[in-house]
Formats: sequence, structure tokens, C-alpha cells
Amino acid sequence: MQLPPFELERFFAQYEFSARYLLCSSDSESLAIGDLLALEPEARDSIQKHWLGYTESQGSFSLREEISRLYRTIQPEQVLVCSGAEEAIFLFMNAALQSGDRVVVHSPCYQSLEAVARGIGCEVAGWKAHEENGWALDLDELRGQLRPATRAVVINTPHNPTGYLMRREEFGEVIRFVQDHGIIIFSDEVYRESEYDPADRLPMACDLSERAVSLGVMSKTYGLPGLRIGWIATHNAELYDRMARFKDYTTICNSAPSEFLAELGLRHRQQLVERNLAIIARNLSVLDDFFARHADRFSWIRPHAGPIAFPRLLGKQVDSFCHDLFTAAGVLLLPGSVYGDRENHLRIGFGRENLPEAVARLEGFLQVQSS
Ligand SMILES: Cc1ncc(COP(=O)(O)O)c(C=O)c1O
Repeated sequence: MQLPPFELERFFAQYEFSARYLLCSSDSESLAIGDLLALEPEARDSIQKHWLGYTESQGSFSLREEISRLYRTIQPEQVLVCSGAEEAIFLFMNAALQSGDRVVVHSPCYQSLEAVARGIGCEVAGWKAHEENGWALDLDELRGQLRPATRAVVINTPHNPTGYLMRREEFGEVIRFVQDHGIIIFSDEVYRESEYDPADRLPMACDLSERAVSLGVMSKTYGLPGLRIGWIATHNAELYDRMARFKDYTTICNSAPSEFLAELGLRHRQQLVERNLAIIARNLSVLDDFFARHADRFSWIRPHAGPIAFPRLLGKQVDSFCHDLFTAAGVLLLPGSVYGDRENHLRIGFGRENLPEAVARLEGFLQVQSS
């Protein structure tokens, strides 16, 4: 399999650990292990005794049980725990697709959602989000993208990088439409539970369709990316088995301490979600004010979920702007070019505590530039 460089990861490899202010992260503020252990009185003692042998390949039963509680119809046997959402994407694509298949992917997208399929030899078609329509998708365009060879449709909502959240009717319609065509839907739901209004929360695709595969992770809404725990949930037993067998060649099983900590985090996920949503809400109001003050420099479509958005930079070239900002102010924004975007967007992330300080620095940089 030929895989191109993962542009976003290469960009972060260059800047992430030297930037003072990460103003483009897609995860929420994280915690220390001690903070997580403090959520239960006996947790510290339990982790000391936690066995460091190989774990059950599909994930420990108790963790899968905890994950299955997130869903309406999913049993622990229908959950496959992986090393992050990234491994789950890799397993799904390799288990479900063959060279020559066609895959329709919500675009722009987190690169592995299309690059792995391409690497397998699939024909990948984009299903484009429309900025002029608040980053909505058009179902008629999906209809136009289907061909006899179409094997899977990949969607991601809440969406990276735009923060777009499908409306409930729209989501249901997409799932029904794809299912009626006998196509697998791969639904990347890693930003679920980060809706600003809980009434907007969508059901999970795997609860709506036997053919759907839902993707979840500890990294984003719960703010625990260092655990590297993600999962697949699906009623599709045949596909589940193929993914599980492929995992024997990737990681075999998950990290035992991470499984322990993920289970603990999930038992207290309400608390983690509330904390992270409070940070996001405060930061969003800082950004609303910032973008109102700088409407001549940026377009701003306010998202409805998640810790990221995809504003457009007006009047300057975005790659050099991001580079100069990093050099002058130590603030990291992500140029849309890492998503193959040619329309001068950038990804801004607002899940971190220090956002007000980062925005103040960005504003100082803009003032120097315009003086
Ligand atoms: C939409 C989407 N899917 C999957 C992933 C991979 O998640 P993880 O890094 O936890 O493996 C990311 C990470 O940014 C993402 O944004």
C-alpha cells in the first residue's frame, strides 16, 4: 500500500512541541493521570495492581461494556477497541475495501478518511461541504456520486475541520439513503457529545442501521488523546470479524493501563464533558468578539459543536500568514492547505484553557502587520 505523507501530522511534527500557544488543536484540554485517578477513591490503588500482560484483542470486556452504554442498541461484542480512532479507520478501510471499489468521502476531511482508501487502490470521490451554506452537505450531490462500484460512504459529523453538525433529519436521510443502496456507511463520530446545545445531538449511525459503522474515541470530547483508545461499534458481524483479524497485524491488543484509564474516564464522562464544554463556551465568546472586530480580515462561520472551526483568511496568503504568526508570536494556526484546501481557510482550535492569551497575541500580531 502506498500512503502519501499525512500533511496535518507532518505540520504538527514541525511545530506542535515548540509553539507556545496551540490555537488549532482539535482535542479538548487534557488531564494528568493523577486528576483522572482522583475521580474514584480506590482508582489509585487499583491501577497499581493492574496486570501488564497482553489484553483481550478486541478490548477488555468491562471497557467494551462501558463503551456499549453510549449506544442504544450495541452490545459489548459489537465493540472493537483500537489504538485511537486512527487505528480504527485503518482497520475499517482494510477490512471493508478492495482495490477498484469506489468510496465517497465527506470533504474536506481528516486525511486518513480518504488516504487509506486511496492507498488500497480505491477510487475516492469527495462529497463537498458548502461554505456558502454554513458547511452543509447536499444529498443530491451524494446521489450524483454513487456508481455501481460504490462500496462505502464516509461521513464525519460534528466535522473536522469546519465544526459542522448535521441536522437530525438530514443525518437520518443520509443513513437511510446509503443503507437502501446496500452501501456501508462509515460514520466518524469522534466529536459527539460536544454539541453546544444537547438538543442537537445526533443518534449514532450504528444505532440507526445494521450496515453502519460508528467510530468513537477518548481523544476529543473527553480530552484524553494520550490514552490512544478509540473504538468501532457496529451490528455488521462479518465486517467486525474482518477488522478484528486485521488487528492481529497492527497492534494485537491495546495498552493495559490505557484501557483501565479509559474505562475510568468513561464512568465519569459527564464530568469531563461538562468541563470541556465550559472551556469551549468561554472561548467561543472570545472568538465571536475577535472575529467581529476583524471582519475585514476573516470570515467566521460559528460552529454548532466541537472545538474547531474553519474561518477564511481574507487578503493574505494563509500558509505564510500561519508561519509568520508562529515565528513572531509563538501562536500556531493550521493552514487549510494541509487538507488540500485552496481557498485560504485555516483551522482554529478553541478547546484549550489558554485561548484568551493566544487570541491576544494573534491580535497583537495583526496590529503590527497593519501598522
Ligand atoms: C475526524 C477525526 N477522526 C479521527 C481522528 C483520529 O483520532 P485519534 O488521534 O484519537 O486517533 C481525528 C483526529 O484529529 C479526527 O479529527
